[in-house]
Order: sequence, then structure tokens, then C-alpha cells
Amino acid sequence: MERPPCLLLLLLPLLRVSAATPEPCEVDDEDVRCACNFSGSQPDWSEAFQCIASVEVEIRGGGHSLEPFLKRAEGYADPRQFADTVRALRVRRLSVGAARVPARLLMGVLRVLGYSRLKELTLEDLEVTGTTPPPPSLEATGPALSTLRLRNVSWATGGSWLAELQQWLKPGLKVLNIADAHSLAFACEQVRTFPALTTLDLSDNPGLGERGLTAALCPHKFPALQNLALRNTGMQTPRAVCAALAAAGVRPHRLDLSHNSLSATANPGAAECVWPSALNSLNLSFAGLEQVPKGLPAKLSVLDLSYNRLNRAPRPEELPKVDNLTLDGNPFLVPEASKPQEHSSSSVVPARAPSPLSVGMSGTLVLLLGVRAFV
Ligand SMILES: *[C@@H]1O[C@H](CO)[C@@H](O)[C@H](O)[C@H]1NC(C)=O
Ligand SMILES: *[C@@H]1O[C@H](CO)[C@@H](O)[C@H](O)[C@H]1NC(C)=O
Ligand SMILES: *[C@@H]1O[C@H](CO)[C@@H](O)[C@H](O)[C@H]1NC(C)=O
Ligand SMILES: *[C@@H]1O[C@H](CO)[C@@H](O)[C@H](O)[C@H]1NC(C)=O
Repeated sequence: MERPPCLLLLLLPLLRVSAATPEPCEVDDEDVRCACNFSGSQPDWSEAFQCIASVEVEIRGGGHSLEPFLKRAEGYADPRQFADTVRALRVRRLSVGAARVPARLLMGVLRVLGYSRLKELTLEDLEVTGTTPPPPSLEATGPALSTLRLRNVSWATGGSWLAELQQWLKPGLKVLNIADAHSLAFACEQVRTFPALTTLDLSDNPGLGERGLTAALCPHKFPALQNLALRNTGMQTPRAVCAALAAAGVRPHRLDLSHNSLSATANPGAAECVWPSALNSLNLSFAGLEQVPKGLPAKLSVLDLSYNRLNRAPRPEELPKVDNLTLDGNPFLVPEASKPQEHSSSSVVPARAPSPLSVGMSGTLVLLLGVRAFV
């Protein structure tokens, strides 16, 4: 019987070798989670069959090229013949990483997964090679994902990758998470609207900066956006972020700017920026701030200013109207004795001051280690 070309089954015994290496796959007792790590030099890909009944599947390709699977995948002219088999798969969360994969293979897998009930897909440490084929004009291309996460994925097609990938997904995506991206300068004219996307997380792209943000936030492509996370993205002032949001016409309710080295004072010549009216939560924690930035939105439900370098309590007129203000971990609140060491560079985000709990914990640890040393 011909086997269906779903992702797990594509990883078929092309290279069957004697199992001298440790088992690459582990399945838990309930058959819920299955993880494979094909790190050897000649992995036995057929081991991935063990994951066939799992709900959460994680496959790490050990940096191998998946090129040899392409021919096999292309042997399946019409994936519809496998639809019933793929529909029966239990997989809801799939994570694929550490491999070189031709774009045509990746899209072929997505097409087949279109018949699955996959909800969350994570691609990590992947090098996607070659050009992306245009999607077939079938009614249902690709899986109906709610969450797509990419970390450290490079695409031979550069900035058009998002538009191309999007064509292979059904349009209900709610959460898109892109970290350590190689290109966020999207070809916006090719990108279609993400009608249901409520969360866009671009955190951990330290080279992005406000200009990069303007390029990444394709105007009017994210009409349902509510949460925008820009943690550790090289942002420099809240006001410049405000300007980038205004330029892109995005109106998030929640904005996370934590772990950026922000300066409080905007360029005095810079024009005022009007914050999105729906914005009600702003996270400025771990931002190295020595004072409350000027020009924040006039009213917020939540403002997190924790773990900055505020040396005195902010005066009411310096703060927006806030229902829920967090100031923990600022020097003016930290007792003199446990103050963190002064940082010489203003770009360094202050470290969390040791809490009595963590001091207690490390004390316990020292005790345990001490006891071990004597037995
Ligand atoms: C996979 O195996 C390699 C080599 O043994 C190891 O370095 C790596 O951390 C493993 N990856 C995962 C996700 O377990
Ligand atoms: C990013 O992914 C590539 C494989 O495409 C890998 O070689 C590299 O080590 C990864 N980088 C990091 C920081 O993990
Ligand atoms: C703000 O961000 C920090 C660090 O990323 C996080 O620990 C904290 O929970 C966030 N605060 C809120 C109110 O979400
Ligand atoms: C303040 O906001 C934080 C984070 O959103 C939440 O955990 C906390 O319950 C809120 N506190 C109040 C009093 O609303």
C-alpha cells in the first residue's frame, strides 16, 4: 500500500542503517508527546513513525539537509488521495527544527497538513533553500493554524518569505511569533491581510530598531491586532515606536517594550506622536530608564516600569493616569544594602536585585552542597 506523504511519513527510511546510535525518538507513556532528535551522521528517519499517534510532535533534524526527501514528496501528485489518513492523525502541535529544507518540500508538507487538525506549528533553526512554488489553486491549501512560531529561520527568498508562506496557510492565524529573523523587511505589497491575527510577537530581534519596525509592520495588513510584543528589539524611545505604529496604522491594545535600552528623553525636535487610542497596557520594564519617559499615552490601565533605574518615586504629573502601576525593582525601592552594582554603560539593562527569597534559596543550595562535600 502506498503511504501518505504527511510530514512524519516523508521522513521515511531513505537511509536505513543499523541502530548502533541511541534511539532518536522518545514517546511518553500516554502517547501524547513525541520528540525525535536525529543528530547522528546517518539517522534512521523511519524512527519518526513512532510519533504517528502523538498530539505534540517535535522533530530536530540534526542540521541535516532534507533535500533527499524532495523527490519522494514530488512523487505524490495529488495529496487529496491521502486526505482521510492525514485527517486521522492526532497531531495538534508540531515543531520542526535544525535542518536545511527546500522550500518546495516545506510547502508540500504544509499542503498535506492542510488535511490535518494541526493548530500550532513551530519552525526553528531552519535554512529554507530554493524558491517557493506558487500554491495550487485548490480550495483548501495548508493547515488552519492558530499559532505560527518561527525562530532563526532563514529563507533564500529574503523579504518575500512571509507573503509566500502565507499563501500556504488558511487565513485564520491568530498568533504570529517571529524571533531571530534574518529578514523582517517584508515585501508588503505581496502580503495579504491577516484578518484574524490578534498577537504579533517580534521579540528577540535585537537588530530591528524603529526603522526596521516600520518595514515589518505592513500597513493595514493586521486589522485585528491587539497585542504587539517588541521585547528586545533594539527600540530606542517610546515615542519613536509610537511614530512607527502610527505610520503602519496598527492599533494594539497591549504593547510590550520591555528589555529595550530606552532613553526617556525624545529628540526635542521630534514631532509629538499620537498613541493608538486603544492602547491600555504598556510594558517598559527592564528598559534601563532613569526617569519616566515623556509623551506616554495620557491614560493606561497597566503600566509596568519595574526593574528600571528610577532613583526616586515618579511624581504624579510625570505619570499617565494608570490603574495598575508596577515599580518593583527600581533603586528607589530597593534597600541600600542589596542595591545592584552601578552600571557604567547606560545601554545595560539593570540586573534584577537579589530578593530575600533568592538569597535564601542560594543559602540553601550552599548548605546542600556543603553537606554533599562532607558525605
Ligand atoms: C539533539 O542532539 C544534539 C546532539 O546530541 C544535542 O546537542 C541537542 O541539544 C539535541 N537537541 C534537543 C532539542 O534535544
Ligand atoms: C540558526 O540556524 C542555523 C541553521 O539554519 C544554525 O546553524 C545556527 O546555529 C542557528 N543559530 C542559533 C543562534 O541558534
Ligand atoms: C513586562 O515584561 C516583563 C519582562 O519581559 C515581564 O516579566 C512582565 O511580566 C511584564 N509585565 C506585564 C504587566 O505584563
Ligand atoms: C495588574 O496587572 C498585572 C499584569 O497584567 C496583573 O497580574 C495584576 O493582577 C493587576 N493588578 C490589579 C490590581 O489589577
